Amino acid sequence: MKNSFIALLVFVVVLTIKAQADEGMWLPSLVGKLNIQKMTSLGCKLTAEQIYSINHSSLKDAVVALDHGSCTAEIISADGLLLTNHHCGFGEIQAHSSVEHDYLRDGFWAMKREDELSNPGKTVTFLIRMEDVTDQVLKNVTADMDDQTRTAKVREAAAKIEKEAKGESGYETRVRSLFESNKYFLFVSQTFKDIRLVGTPPQSIGKFGGETDNWMWPRHTGDFSMFRVYCAPDGKPAEYSKQNVPFHPKYFLPISLKGIDKNDFTMVMGYPGTTTRYRTSNEVKYTMEVVNEVRIAAREVKLDIIKDYMATSQKARIQYASKFARSSNYYKYSIGQNKGLTALNIIGKKQDIEKDFLRWANETPERKAKYGSALDTINMAFTSRDEKIALEYSREALLRGAEIFAFAAKASSLDEALKGTDKDKIKSAVTELRGSLDEYFKDYDSSTDQKIVASLLKLYSQKVNSKYIPGFIAEIESKFRGDFNAYARKLFAKTIFADQARLESFLNKPSSKVLDKDMAFTAMRSMFETMNTISHDLSKTTSKLEKARRLFVAGLNEMNKDKSVYPDANSTMRLTYGTVDGYVPHDATYYSYFTTLKGYVEKGISGDVDFDFPQKLVDMYNAKDFGPYADKDGSIHTCFTSNNDITGGNSGSPVINGNGELVGIAFDGNWEAMSCDIAYEPDLQKCICVDIRFVLWTIDKFAGAGQLVNEMKLIR
Ligand code: ARG
Repeated sequence: MKNSFIALLVFVVVLTIKAQADEGMWLPSLVGKLNIQKMTSLGCKLTAEQIYSINHSSLKDAVVALDHGSCTAEIISADGLLLTNHHCGFGEIQAHSSVEHDYLRDGFWAMKREDELSNPGKTVTFLIRMEDVTDQVLKNVTADMDDQTRTAKVREAAAKIEKEAKGESGYETRVRSLFESNKYFLFVSQTFKDIRLVGTPPQSIGKFGGETDNWMWPRHTGDFSMFRVYCAPDGKPAEYSKQNVPFHPKYFLPISLKGIDKNDFTMVMGYPGTTTRYRTSNEVKYTMEVVNEVRIAAREVKLDIIKDYMATSQKARIQYASKFARSSNYYKYSIGQNKGLTALNIIGKKQDIEKDFLRWANETPERKAKYGSALDTINMAFTSRDEKIALEYSREALLRGAEIFAFAAKASSLDEALKGTDKDKIKSAVTELRGSLDEYFKDYDSSTDQKIVASLLKLYSQKVNSKYIPGFIAEIESKFRGDFNAYARKLFAKTIFADQARLESFLNKPSSKVLDKDMAFTAMRSMFETMNTISHDLSKTTSKLEKARRLFVAGLNEMNKDKSVYPDANSTMRLTYGTVDGYVPHDATYYSYFTTLKGYVEKGISGDVDFDFPQKLVDMYNAKDFGPYADKDGSIHTCFTSNNDITGGNSGSPVINGNGELVGIAFDGNWEAMSCDIAYEPDLQKCICVDIRFVLWTIDKFAGAGQLVNEMKLIR
């Protein structure tokens, strides 16, 4: 009797926990107001002030945006040691790799500080503070203002706020809109530019499972890499210099060796990039049928060509590793997103929301006047598609298709300079271009790019309405009888942009005449002309969209005014809280919330592109050489899942337990809920994390870089 009462109680408690869906990417500065109570009920022992404070150090000071938000990282030592995903350091690991130093294949560990490798262009941004400035931004905005005037007033007010906040601080200041321009927040931040690579496991750990396992659970990937933030001797940000010193942060995360259990509280802080949870059913249809379909079609062509090349040699594999991973990641995402949107009937669910909205909006004359036509206006913007299909194809098949055209575009400022008389301008344009050549050509294979040009231009010409076919593609029809291979052959034989030596000899004696008749340069110009036409036509069909979206979201939030709401992700810092648990991916199957090294060994396939493994790891597994990093069950836990609400940009984010200690690094989402950027899925959506003890075991035991672990603060 008593037992069953307790069981019932537990059941009710679990149900209420479940019912408090852990949806939401919340603004850290509002956690005290909106979230801390729920977080406490789920097991969080921290105060809101310990999470986000402008008066003293807090968790937010240890969480940074990597490369302006393309990923997240966390500070884990007093000397600026930084932890992120392997796939967030992939570009740098790849760039430092060569046939002689294959860090992708073998990993890399700086055993001394002097050995840490610099990475020009890589940045780390700390959030200093954030502040709601909506009232100030909208001070001169009135309800009857047309949209152009509104935008101008908003910009003017935002610029003033940014300038005042910046003062003499040296910080970056930016006002960002939230809730489709219904709210505005000021973000004050500081960006460091000397970020050095400290260590990475081999790809067979850091990217174990490769494209096969990407976006999937169960997972056994040790998806981590380490960097260090350096600064000038005075503690300020500085470009790379030998004189720079490790940065001493305001705060760094302690690391728990205790592991996590089912239903434990977790929170993730980081920089989610983009979600579109307020978009309408029509927009979802458009995403499926245009954005995703185009991306899938174009990348399929490109990835097949690159894959063939990568299989030819070690050099080829290193050259194209990063380009391939980048392109295939969102290729697979789009496939999964379309599947998920269909399976979970997201369009139907959106239509229900729209019906409720219309009913609510039509209840009073005031609401009707204000919100009554917002949905229709949004729908109207998505009826014409030609220009939108052209836009997506121009991105995928022209600009970011082959590399040669975007590369030729880098000579545009030189071209401009050559047409003027300013010798210094020419000189600096030449220097700049010359400076980029080694890096570019190290990873460039012109015969691969030639194949991509032929295939993607052909695809573009087949799929895009004739009014958006650039002149140079029309000429392939007339001058090459539609033979795209013949065009590409001639292009690569003639252009100066496909060969480093040829380009260098041009730069020794640059002339605008050469550029004016260069086939890649002229094709690039023709491409840009067409893209201007496309964006002109696009702005005609979408001119009323911004305002309609603003009103729709304002109306929805008014309709749901008793609920806490959170804005779509936009690469600003957010916090999501939840609990650890597995899930039911499909009928009669339960996925446990954690994986172990046993599963890694089971999956391993010697020599396989995705599942190759280091023998040393298997030997250590067999010898149970786990050090202090094993779970209480005696095994190494590799990855785990929680229901934290994350998206791209969160990669590398710290997964933090109720005591504010690091327990994992978020690195992926799961296949069954790939629709989650558009609609949160309470029962299915998982945040896939690498267990911090697997990370430490790899650093300390596998790689023998224990000096790094000694820098950290471990909670045993
Ligand atoms: N899907 C993950 C993300 O977008 C990981 C991507 C890298 N992994 C890969 N196999 N390409 O963050």
